[in-house]
Amino acid sequence: MSDIVREVGRRRTFAIISHPDAGKTTLTEKLLLFSGAIQLAGAVKAKKGGKSATSDWMEIEKQRGISVASSVMQFDYRDHVVNLLDTPGHQDFSEDTYRVLTAVDSALMVIDAAKGVEEQTIKLLNVCRLRNTPIVTFMNKYDREVRDSLELLDEVESVLKIRCAPVTWPIGMGKTFRGVYHILKDEILLFGAGENKAGQLVDEVIQGLDNPRLDELFPLEIEQTRMELELVKGASHPFVLEEFLAGELTPVFFGSAINNFGVREILNALVDWAPSPGERDATVRMVNPTEEKFSAFVFKIQANMDPKHRDRIAFLRVCSGEFTRGMKFKHLRLGRDIAANSVVTFMAQGREQVEEAYAGDIIGLPNHGNIQIGDSFTEGEALSFTGIPYFAPELFRIVRIRNPLKIKQLQKGLQQLGEEGAVQVFRPLNGADIILGAVGVLQFEVVASRLANEYGVEAIFESTNTHTARWVTCDDPKMLADFEKQLVNNLARDAADSLAYLATSRVNLELTQERWPKIVFHSTREHA
Ligand code: G4P
Repeated sequence: MSDIVREVGRRRTFAIISHPDAGKTTLTEKLLLFSGAIQLAGAVKAKKGGKSATSDWMEIEKQRGISVASSVMQFDYRDHVVNLLDTPGHQDFSEDTYRVLTAVDSALMVIDAAKGVEEQTIKLLNVCRLRNTPIVTFMNKYDREVRDSLELLDEVESVLKIRCAPVTWPIGMGKTFRGVYHILKDEILLFGAGENKAGQLVDEVIQGLDNPRLDELFPLEIEQTRMELELVKGASHPFVLEEFLAGELTPVFFGSAINNFGVREILNALVDWAPSPGERDATVRMVNPTEEKFSAFVFKIQANMDPKHRDRIAFLRVCSGEFTRGMKFKHLRLGRDIAANSVVTFMAQGREQVEEAYAGDIIGLPNHGNIQIGDSFTEGEALSFTGIPYFAPELFRIVRIRNPLKIKQLQKGLQQLGEEGAVQVFRPLNGADIILGAVGVLQFEVVASRLANEYGVEAIFESTNTHTARWVTCDDPKMLADFEKQLVNNLARDAADSLAYLATSRVNLELTQERWPKIVFHSTREHA
């Protein structure tokens, strides 16, 4: 077996997704702790101090800078190389979060079992569905009073439209949480609450659900669990690997991240079942991860930590071949060679120089604004990786400037920030306003600070009556021209010159869709 085949085969690249407060940070930390990547719990947690939204530029930089070091983490587990990508929490929530999901091969969904499926989880899962990303589910916080487990599975199935295959099953909850029954192995892992340790807090493993030792230990709960499991077997789906890989079924695990309970099962599931990097669509052809030649694309750009140096880090997902330190590759859009001397990788404790990287790995390339989201890099072949989506924004603002003489700087700034993917810029067909669209409110704050600091423009954002946007296309050019003429006041072009309909309300959108059945309204647009 060649080095590349072996290296690709042992890579697992996944994102961890959840609604804020479900326990993503805690679980991330426990995964790192468990794999031995960090010694003491607390390293990831520390970044939470800066989690609150703030309009202070330095703070945002700092916050973002720190999260550069911790938003991608690589560690070894059971002779596998695991790349874990964090998706930012609520105030940070932006298109970045969505795009991270285009760079992974699977996702770990964390659900607060006291709350069930929450809003952000629904959004994130919809994005995973665009690429049929396989999902592993972790029901967290069983050391607390939580909702009925069957009801939770039912909610995941009906709201998230994915079949559930429970792999473990909880025995009790809260004060009477005893552990989990591993359905596939027919063994019970007993829970022993304790301190942060690298080991799993399993007091004992008992073989077989009928084992009389269980009646001795939990005379009150075990009958209930046995009955429940009968029900579960009837009401849920068995685990089928192909269905998981197709994104149709999710294996479900139960536990308590804070107690490190259930974490090993998740890591094992990711290593045993989650896919290694697969083929990627590069427009002219599919690219196989084990090809000799290096290729990669940019899925995220983050402003660097040091505000004195305006450089940014471009996050590249390697798609094929082998990256070695100092190699040259081509920036296809600019047709320029890049000597990759200072490429970094992200370890749990910070950044390190990359010596080598393979498909599935994430590498960071410092740049000065000449790299955009969606850019492809190869050893020369004209490939263009697809699938980096832009999402219909949910928040809109009109930009105004205090000093009209700065209009040129404003336009330049917005063009660059738009290209970088920091915000979406719409120019209405009618009138001179510029409308900004975002999916997270922090995006506007970042844009305001960056316009001030990098372009010397003091911008004011005002509310607009735009409620939502849809990109529009039509097979019939005459029909599209008609549409453009009649609805000129609601139409705009984005940074890539794509036509978008700006609706004033959901009803307005629905009515327009009804009136123009041949026009297609898209809620996502792929990077050009
Ligand atoms: P997030 O990244 O998804 O936003 O969640 P995070 O890990 O920060 O966890 C949110 C809260 O839930 C934290 O409490 C955390 O301690 C708690 N938590 C996480 N996992 C478990 C669990 O398995 N059981 C219980 N009981 N709690 C859990 P907090 O009070 O908001 O923060 P802190 O005071 O612990 O720092």
